[in-house]
Amino acid sequence: METLFVGIDFGSMNTGIAASNGFRRVIPTEVGWPKDAIAQEWLGKSCVFAEELDEHRPALRTIRPFANGALKYAPVSGEAAAAEATAESVMAATQVIRHAIELVKRTAHAQVRGVVGVPAQASLKNKQLLLDICEQAMDTVVLVPEPFAIGYGLGGHRQSLIVDIGAGTTDLCHYYGAMPGPSDLFTIGRGGDWIDEDFRQRVLAAHDNVLLSPKVARLIKEKYGFVGDVTEPIVVRLPVRGGEPRAFDVTEPLREACTVLANEVLAGILTLLDQISPDYHAPLLESTLLAGGGSRLHGFDNWLEARLSDYGKANVRPIPDSCFSGANGALQLAMHLPEAGWIALQRKDHGDAVATVEHADDEPQVIAGRIHPHLAEPGQEKAATPGKRAAV
Ligand SMILES: Nc1ncnc2c1ncn2[C@@H]1O[C@H](COP(=O)(O)OP(=O)(O)OP(=O)(O)O)[C@@H](O)[C@H]1O
Ligand SMILES: [Mg+2]
Repeated sequence: METLFVGIDFGSMNTGIAASNGFRRVIPTEVGWPKDAIAQEWLGKSCVFAEELDEHRPALRTIRPFANGALKYAPVSGEAAAAEATAESVMAATQVIRHAIELVKRTAHAQVRGVVGVPAQASLKNKQLLLDICEQAMDTVVLVPEPFAIGYGLGGHRQSLIVDIGAGTTDLCHYYGAMPGPSDLFTIGRGGDWIDEDFRQRVLAAHDNVLLSPKVARLIKEKYGFVGDVTEPIVVRLPVRGGEPRAFDVTEPLREACTVLANEVLAGILTLLDQISPDYHAPLLESTLLAGGGSRLHGFDNWLEARLSDYGKANVRPIPDSCFSGANGALQLAMHLPEAGWIALQRKDHGDAVATVEHADDEPQVIAGRIHPHLAEPGQEKAATPGKRAAV
C-alpha cells in the first residue's frame, strides 16, 4: 500500500501542511458554520474553510478552535459552559484537520502517516485530545513539540535555542538534534493574539469614540508591530463612532503591547536557561532563532540580542521561512521515523504502542505515539520506558 507522509503545524491561527507528494499549503485554523438554514441552503455546505471564510464571513459562525491556546495548551475547564464550548471546539478542530488532509491530493488507498507539532509544554490531557482529533484524519499520528520540529527542519545538529512566537503560545526549545526532554522545553501561554487584544484595549481606553475591531488591531500589529525604537510615529486612520474616520497615533499602545510580550519571552528564555546545564548557555545564546509569525515584529531580534548580551555573547536572528518551518520539520521527522516505529503505532487498539529513534547517547528514546489513558502526569513523563508508553 502506498504511504503518504504528512507534516502538520496545527497552529492556533494557521495550519501548515507539507506532504511527501510535494504538497505545501497554509490554511487558517478556523471553520465557519452557516448561521442559519438560509445560509446553509445558499452556501450548499455545512462547513466553510480557508479563503471562503472571508468571502462569506457575515453569513457564518466562525470558530478558531485553538484561539488563545485553547485545547492545545490551556487546561480544559470542568465547568458546564466551558465543557460545551470545548465539545464545539473539538468538532471544529476535527473538521479543520480533516479538510487539511483532504487538500493533500492522495490516491484513494494511500495510508497517511502524520507528524504533528504541539506546544512545548502541552499537558498530557491536551496531547491526548489532540491525538484523538488528529486520528480522525490520519491513519497513524505522532505528536512532537513544535519548536523541536522547527529545529529539526532547519537541519544540522548544532545546538540552538528555538523561540516560536505563535498566535496562542510562545514555545521555547533547547534544540540539539535529538528528542528534547521536559527541561529543554518551556511554553509561555501568550502569543500574537494576546498582543492584538492588549493593543486594542489600550487604544480604546485612550480614545472614547474610536472603533477598532480585533481584525484591524491584528493587521496594524502585523504591519507596524515593533519592539525597541521607531524612527517615525505610527499613525493610522480609524473609524469613529458618529463621525468621520480620522488619524490616530498608535505608537505608544503598540509599543507597550509588543514590549509586554517581548519581556515575557526574555523571562521565558532565562527560565529555560535555568533549567539546563550552564555548559550549554553560551552555544544557545550564540544561536537563538526566532520562528513563528511573531518573529516578524520589527526590531525584536535586535532588542532580544541586546538583552541577552548581558548574559554572554548573543546572536539572535529570525529563521527564513516562518510560515512552513514547522510543517517542513514535521515532514522531515515523519520521513525519518523508522518503519518499525510506525508499525507499532498503527495498532490503535494498543494504547501503549510507541515509536523510537536513536538518542544522542545511543539510548533508544521515545519520540511519540499513542498516549495511554492512565499515564502519569507530565512531570513523570521523563521516566517513560520505551516499549511501555509514549511521550512527546
Ligand atoms: N509581520 C508580522 N508581525 C508581527 N506579527 C505577525 C506578523 N505576521 C503574522 N504575525 C502574527 O503571528 C501570529 C501567527 O503566527 P503563527 O502562524 O506562527 O501562529 P500559529 O502557529 O497559528 O499559533 P500557535 O503556534 O500559537 O499555535 C499571529 O498572531 C499573527 O498576527
Ligand atoms: Mg505555531
